Amino acid sequence: MSPITGDDTVASLRARLEQTERQAAARQRQLERYASDLREVFKQERARAQELRRSYMATVRALSNAVEARDAYTGKHAERVAAYGLELAAATGLSVADSPQIEFGFLLHDVGKVAVPDAILFKSSSLTAEEYALVRRHPVIGSEILRDVDFLGEGKLVVRHHHERWDGSGYPDGLIGDAIPLAARVFAVADALDALTTDRPYRPASTFTRARQVIRDSAGSQFDPEVVAAFEEISDDAFERLRNTL
Ligand SMILES: [Fe+2]
Repeated sequence: MSPITGDDTVASLRARLEQTERQAAARQRQLERYASDLREVFKQERARAQELRRSYMATVRALSNAVEARDAYTGKHAERVAAYGLELAAATGLSVADSPQIEFGFLLHDVGKVAVPDAILFKSSSLTAEEYALVRRHPVIGSEILRDVDFLGEGKLVVRHHHERWDGSGYPDGLIGDAIPLAARVFAVADALDALTTDRPYRPASTFTRARQVIRDSAGSQFDPEVVAAFEEISDDAFERLRNTL
């Protein structure tokens, strides 16, 4: 048996080092494959989530259009209110990114009107007390229709509470102030803005400037003053642009 020399030790250390390096390189290649697989999975998941969101939005728009198709003079009311509402929500600090269902609620706010007969909805003379009571039920009917549609989430609160007023004199629940969901308080201002700036059979459309004055005068009674303050930060031009893109 030959004696162990310094050369043997160096050769054996070198061999172990090379083996360790090969193992490390193999592990690194495996990790890179895992990372690449994960990136692919994330990409596919993101695409699926976007597709799902597009499908939800298309379904909501179809339902919203079906409701609006009955009503010739309001045109694209729901689309405009949704656009104004999203702008206003952002200015109010309500993060629509955290709650994308809010837009669904804006679009579907009047879905309960499907239960109101045309003869009442489009009556040119004043409504009887019973007829008015039926019209006032549309937020409750709407939220009942949508009750089991889970993906609408907070949007259903907009449907139920879009006619509440800051001072508690609204319906259906007579909620006061902060008890009214913020998205519904935002919606109320956007809805009034569109109603005022759209031609009606009994009056022409107001300018955005005039509508702004009307809304300002109702801060603290009909509308949340903080939402109106956020509304004041948005220019007439910005609202005009939103209207013209629809
Ligand atoms: Fe309504």
